[in-house]
Amino acid sequence: MKRNFFYLISILLLCLALTACAPAPTPAAETYEDFVVVGFSQVGAESDWRNANTASMQQALSEENGYRLILDDAQQKQERQITAIRNFIHQGVDYIVLAPTTEKGWDTVLAEAKDAGIPVIIVDRRIEISDDSLFTCWIGSDFLGEGRDAVRWLDAHYAGKPLRIVHLQGNIGSTAQIGRTAGLNEGLTSHPEWELVYRETGDFTQAKGQELVEALLADGMEFDLIFSENDNMAYGAIDALKNAGLTPGKDVTIISFDASRHALELVMSGEISYDVECNPLHGPRVEAIIQRLERGQTPPKLTYVEETAFDTETITQSTLDSRGY
Ligand code: AHR
Repeated sequence: MKRNFFYLISILLLCLALTACAPAPTPAAETYEDFVVVGFSQVGAESDWRNANTASMQQALSEENGYRLILDDAQQKQERQITAIRNFIHQGVDYIVLAPTTEKGWDTVLAEAKDAGIPVIIVDRRIEISDDSLFTCWIGSDFLGEGRDAVRWLDAHYAGKPLRIVHLQGNIGSTAQIGRTAGLNEGLTSHPEWELVYRETGDFTQAKGQELVEALLADGMEFDLIFSENDNMAYGAIDALKNAGLTPGKDVTIISFDASRHALELVMSGEISYDVECNPLHGPRVEAIIQRLERGQTPPKLTYVEETAFDTETITQSTLDSRGY
């Protein structure tokens, strides 16, 4: 009996101790009203650039910063983005952020967002639209400028020399593809000594970049340079070259875009010869735009971010160390 009594007391004490250590009861769940609610329609997760972009948005539009971010990954499909935007409208979000897959085809759904009174911020790539009032503002890269930058480097190193170029394009119809391709086309027009021997889309993915270059090598195609419209396709191309016993940077020159940290390591080691920066860290920029809109101010309609480029001569260890993506 005595033993049972002590047993009972021990259990009681244990329960008391557990109650004391337990986390404080959660207050009633916060409602959407406590946050600025942002629906973000993201292109997908096709590249390191894209993943860095998503992370940047998540960090800037966090609950600690007063936001509730609803992220939708469209897996590189515009139809999915249109559905996501309609869902955001239905949910009554405060802002819609759209990173568009391609430029065309947004008029109807953005008119629906406008009718619902929801500001739409476009980020990264551009949209081609009949009525500019259907979006609040855009922030992103000068993709044509990036293509021209790459051609300036080519011009400095290969003007007057025959050059057989393999061109790996990004997903067709995206501003990143349109601008970078247009830059290269200008270079091809002004350099008849350069020959475009192959052009195909690798959808900005490493797997497709590797697959395309492997197929070319298997066909016995000879080329001097790969103009890859992003780093991930360049990584795939490099793997294909190495598997075929070729040395990237020596047997084949590689030009790429994005300048993510791993690519800059490859610039440092000479495997990529020139990499044009495309900055994905748009989260704080979008957050600043939302803050302006919250204060009733008007952000600039179009904002280009500043970007640079790196080759084996200009890359430094400190650039690599400070690379945020
Ligand atoms: O729109 C930016 C491009 O999209 C980046 O160059 C590429 O890596 C990404 O997928």
